[in-house]
Amino acid sequence: MTDILTSNSIAMVTGASSGIGAATARQLAERGVRVIGTGRNSARLAELAAELGDRGLMIELDVRNEAGVAAALAELPAPWRDIDILVNNAGHDAGGWRLFQDIDRSESNDVIDTNVTGLIRVTSHIVPGMIERNKGHIVNIGSISSFTPYPKSAVYCASKFAVDGFTQSLRMDMSDTAIRVTQIDPGVVLTGFQLSRYKGDQAAADAFVDSYPTGLTPDDVARSICFALEQPPGVMIDRIVLEPTQGA
Ligand SMILES: NC(=O)c1ccc[n+]([C@@H]2O[C@H](COP(=O)([O-])OP(=O)(O)OC[C@H]3O[C@@H](n4cnc5c(N)ncnc54)[C@H](OP(=O)(O)O)[C@@H]3O)[C@@H](O)[C@H]2O)c1
Repeated sequence: MTDILTSNSIAMVTGASSGIGAATARQLAERGVRVIGTGRNSARLAELAAELGDRGLMIELDVRNEAGVAAALAELPAPWRDIDILVNNAGHDAGGWRLFQDIDRSESNDVIDTNVTGLIRVTSHIVPGMIERNKGHIVNIGSISSFTPYPKSAVYCASKFAVDGFTQSLRMDMSDTAIRVTQIDPGVVLTGFQLSRYKGDQAAADAFVDSYPTGLTPDDVARSICFALEQPPGVMIDRIVLEPTQGA
């Protein structure tokens, strides 16, 4: 078995156009890994492509679209096909932070389609190759919402609890292989997440962020992902929970 955080490895990061995904793509590339960054925002992906140079390959991919995901992965250039690291990061809570009875059902359906069904969809396309090569590390981005319910987030919490159940059971299903499965559960991270949650209402997003004394940065989360990935092949990090230090 070989170490995975090396220039021989290829990573796919979903939601690489922003926040945690973009920071993770950068940190992986800094460590020599070749990174396939995915998302829907082509302009932001182009900016990341310019930064990563030949260490990056950006593809437009909407995790909700089965045909699109299948085609994008089937059309990967040959040198990029053997994905060793999958960071399932794409996710949102657009239209959230409301009482359940006030949520727009089409918006909450989209949270599940993206955070749960999309994550499982991408994983199902990547796992067969990992099993064939008996090499791989899947990192799912959960949240403290994966194990701590709170009000005004019924569907988002449901989506992250689902990610947690999927991560734990998937790890068991991989137990006869060298494939590792890790979940990263951050508290509040200062990204575009809140702006997306409030559907572009900057004042509302700022007020939410200001109600917290401190927040993690995307780089903080990316470092924890790299920590899990850099362990020797015999060490599996099941879960990392990280929260901002109060009063720091
Ligand atoms: N920020 C926090 O406080 C926090 C805390 C705990 C966990 N998380 C989790 O961390 C992950 C990343 O969020 P973030 O904080 O970095 O927020 P962000 O800056 O808003 O980034 C979200 C990313 O998800 C992508 N995305 C959303 N819908 C997608 C879709 N249908 N298909 C493909 N990509 C999609 C977006 O890309 P495009 O718009 O280009 O598609 C974007 O790159 C999410 O799973 C979130 O639940 C965030």
